[in-house]
Amino acid sequence: MKISQRVAGVEYAIRDITLSAKKLEKQGQKITYLNIGDPVAYGFQPPENVKDALIKAIKNNQNYYAPSEGIQELRQAIAEKEKRKGLLTTEDDIIVTNGVSEGLEMLMASIVEPGDEVLIPGPYYPPYASYVRLFGGIPVEFGVDLNNSTPDLDDVKSKITSKTVAICFISPNNPTGAVFSEKSLKDLIDIAIKNDLYIICDEIYDQIVFDEKFVGIGKVSGDSPVILLNGFSKVHLMSGWRIGYIAFNDSKKLDILRENVPKLARVRIASNLPVQYAALESLRGPQDYIPKFVSELKKTKRLCHQTNKRNAWT
Ligand SMILES: Cc1ncc(COP(=O)(O)O)c(C=O)c1O
Repeated sequence: MKISQRVAGVEYAIRDITLSAKKLEKQGQKITYLNIGDPVAYGFQPPENVKDALIKAIKNNQNYYAPSEGIQELRQAIAEKEKRKGLLTTEDDIIVTNGVSEGLEMLMASIVEPGDEVLIPGPYYPPYASYVRLFGGIPVEFGVDLNNSTPDLDDVKSKITSKTVAICFISPNNPTGAVFSEKSLKDLIDIAIKNDLYIICDEIYDQIVFDEKFVGIGKVSGDSPVILLNGFSKVHLMSGWRIGYIAFNDSKKLDILRENVPKLARVRIASNLPVQYAALESLRGPQDYIPKFVSELKKTKRLCHQTNKRNAWT
């Protein structure tokens, strides 16, 4: 019987590898899973007030389908957060999704036609390439100098063709940890504007920075066509609850997307309603758990670096 080549080409190596690991485990081998970076699986938890908000929503019978774009209170709280970071957005420009992953899929579905090219900073978080490929597009990696987190602007310019439709910024980045400076963001935006590209910006690690300074895209984007992706899996320690969002910047060039992306949100009905109340609490409630969590991660980072150095010497 027929299958779609689109899906046959999809891969996500860091999760796909568990299929082989499970086979070895069945044969009695001991496996230590280091493939997924998920602090929530290793001792970090959402704060009690956030857990309570989830339980309270369930007990208050908020177990029905949510509005497709998300509940109004949460969209408002998200818009306030992103406005504080500088983005020109409003609650009507927010779509709540089942994680950044779903938002990314909706965006690529709305932008990419077969043969279209999308620029991604390398080395990249794999789903960016997978979703571009799923819709028939071609992911094109641009270089970033990892010694100083600086994108190679000449490389970006040289890789833009008549088929390029969008450029992605992921800052802070997974897997490299690169954090783009205000100047780098501005330079990339200038290139994107000159070439009429959508700017897709992933800020899921916006509050998880160590020695670098995080600058939100909103600080420099003005009214350029920026679509921001963000979520609650990392900073808010809610990875297993699957919640994130898309935020549109106030740009006329995004008007068609503003109409089309919600169509996809309606087709998949809605994201999880009780979790939306927990996300609301995580934005409105005390924020002191975030610096504590980041400082614990910093200790782990130091330990990894020390171990790495020791291993390099022996
Ligand atoms: C850069 C980046 N974006 C998105 C995601 C996935 O986000 P979510 O859990 O909201 O789908 C990850 C997860 O590792 C990530 O590193």
